[in-house]
Formats: sequence, C-alpha cells, structure tokens
Amino acid sequence: MRTVIVAAGVVLEHGKVLLSRRKTGTHLEGLWEFPGGKVEAGEDPRAALRRELEEELGIDTEVGEIVDVTFHRYEDADKAVLLLFFEASRTSASPEPRAVDVAEVGWFGPEALDPASFPPADVAVLAKVRARLHG
Ligand code: C5P
Repeated sequence: MRTVIVAAGVVLEHGKVLLSRRKTGTHLEGLWEFPGGKVEAGEDPRAALRRELEEELGIDTEVGEIVDVTFHRYEDADKAVLLLFFEASRTSASPEPRAVDVAEVGWFGPEALDPASFPPADVAVLAKVRARLHG
C-alpha cells in the first residue's frame, strides 16, 4: 500500500474556520475537510499547501506552525495518507475564498465541527481546532 503525503490548512478568521467540501466523483466525495491536497514529489509541504489553497479556493496565504500530524489507512482506496495540518492565514491582499476546484467553501464556527462530516484522517484534529476557536 502506498502512502500519500497531504498538506491541509487550518485557516481561522473572526472565530471561524475555513472548510471546503469534496467534489462528487472524488475519494470521500461530499465530505467537508480542512482544505489542502497532495504534496508532489520533492515539494516542500508548506509550498504545497499554499499552492493547493490557491488552486482550490483562489486565496493567497502564509503558512505557519504545524498543528497536528495524522496517519490513516484507507483500505477501500488501497492507500494510506500522512496528513500534515498547518496553521495558515490569508495575506492582506488575498481575494475571498471561492469554490474554484471544490464543491463548496465556507467559514464555520465550532458547532459545525461534527466528526461525522469529516474524512477519518481529519477527525483527530477537530478537538485542536475547536480549542483554537474558543481560545
Ligand atoms: O485533495 P486531494 O485529493 O489531493 O487529497 C489526496 C487524498 O488525501 C484524498 O484522496 C484523501 O484521501 C486525503 N485527504 C484527507 N483529508 C484532507 C485532504 C485530503 O483525508 N483534508
């Protein structure tokens, strides 16, 4: 089984977190997730996250500290995912997020962080994000 390295962003603004919804026809379709994507061979994970946030949501970001690292085996897709969650913030010049290459995008408060709506690899980070939203 191969392991895919994925970088995902925890983007907070005004007590809300930025989430995107996976497109129909993709692995884990319809689930909400912390936006991000695959780190290409030889690519810096922080650079990969900036690139993915630009490609998927049209935003310009600065990527900061690591929030969490999770590992999950998706037996159904015959792959494992090593997920690196980073803090990220929009630059002052960044456009508003829009659903360029995702089904939907939005800002959500802590009440929306229901584990049932997220991919299993994202669930472990929810408690940390909730703490940040309250803090
Ligand atoms: O977004 P992308 O399809 O490039 O991500 C690669 C894989 O990483 C997805 O198929 C999914 O298994 C996993 N993923 C995840 N949680 C995220 C982002 C991606 O489990 N927040």
